[in-house]
Amino acid sequence: MSSLIARDRAVVWHPYTQAGFGAEPLAVVGAQGSALMLEDGRSILDGISSWWCCLHGHGHPALIKAAHEQFQKLDHVLFAGVTHEPAVRLAERLCEVVPHGFQRAFYTDNGSAAIEVAIKLAVQAWRHRGEKRVRVVALEGGYHGDTFGAMAAGARGVFSAPFENMLFSVERLSIEGSEADIERCEALCTSGDVACFVFEPLIQGAGGMRCIDPGVIDEYCRRFKAAGIVCIADEVMTGFGRTGELFASSELRVAPDLICLSKGLTSGTLPLAVTLCRDDLYREFISADHSKTFFHGHTYTANPIACAVALASLDLTISDECHASRKRIGEAHARFVDILWECHGVRDARSLGTILAFDVVTSDSGGYTNSFAQNVRDYFIDQGVLLRPLGNVVYFMPPYSFTDDELTQAYTAIEELCVGLN
Ligand SMILES: Cc1ncc(COP(=O)(O)O)c(C=O)c1O
Repeated sequence: MSSLIARDRAVVWHPYTQAGFGAEPLAVVGAQGSALMLEDGRSILDGISSWWCCLHGHGHPALIKAAHEQFQKLDHVLFAGVTHEPAVRLAERLCEVVPHGFQRAFYTDNGSAAIEVAIKLAVQAWRHRGEKRVRVVALEGGYHGDTFGAMAAGARGVFSAPFENMLFSVERLSIEGSEADIERCEALCTSGDVACFVFEPLIQGAGGMRCIDPGVIDEYCRRFKAAGIVCIADEVMTGFGRTGELFASSELRVAPDLICLSKGLTSGTLPLAVTLCRDDLYREFISADHSKTFFHGHTYTANPIACAVALASLDLTISDECHASRKRIGEAHARFVDILWECHGVRDARSLGTILAFDVVTSDSGGYTNSFAQNVRDYFIDQGVLLRPLGNVVYFMPPYSFTDDELTQAYTAIEELCVGLN
């Protein structure tokens, strides 16, 4: 055991890691482009974009430059009663590029907080309308984060079990949009107590990379919106080109009322999130009455360095070069999916933009915590690729910096695993 890992074991508690068990953490000493450099001298490919956020590869010079320049001008300042150029510029730019016409940005610093803000805005807006609506509707199998409100909106399971009695109850609609779902949706619209509907557009991430027909979400949103129920698109994972389009919501015909963004916003460099809304919702909060203030804020809200990096990252994301990389990776994924369909132990091989996923038939039914996931992670690390299955769902979500050779290395490792399942 390296000295770093030994020291880690003595003082650090890791997320999503069983205390006292599990593999040793990877000791990462550096990262460049698509690769993570380990303390033991190995270099492994970051096949999950460091939890889905690192879009342009590690150590991108344009992002370093933006952070460095901003650091010299203004490092941090509180955001209540204060403003600064990077936050204003980023809000302007996001309102320009995000589909469906948004006009206002509320900053936070992680995806869960962006969801909390969205739910709180919806509930408070209903209060301003004179109704104490608190019911939330969400999709079955969704994931929206680990804080209490976000956790309540997400699917219940081993993650949330200890807190079950503390979570507000949530109505669920399926991602299939059956006739029964539509009937329930209509009943919820007339129930008079639903404040908002929250969903991941096009694909559910932590729920197992499950693709969703945008038409189903449209069917729900059309009804909810007609009833004034606030529709919240959680684009924390899908934003900034992941699904092919710049934003998954462009595939929706019915405009959501709020969009939550984080992860790719700063390309995995600094924590930042934003909840975008329209002026009609913002106007519901304009009042001389203090009780109508939206009392929510985090210390690092709209950190200037994070905003400056987000602006630089956005420029990279909308560039022709990045568009071409996403297209190249998406097409390579689609070709590889055809190969995966030939493997007996593989089910439902699928790809969406730069996301590739498949289910593995395994007798281990432990869900997210099954030993299959840990064994497969170890196998991939030996093959020089960091992949971290969600239970029996293996997925590959590379940064857009992945070269053809790097893609081939990852596909070869995946194919060898899958052939071994036959
Ligand atoms: C769709 C979605 N929403 C929200 C979150 C929560 O984001 P964070 O981990 O930054 O709190 C995640 C994180 O994986 C996510 O995938």
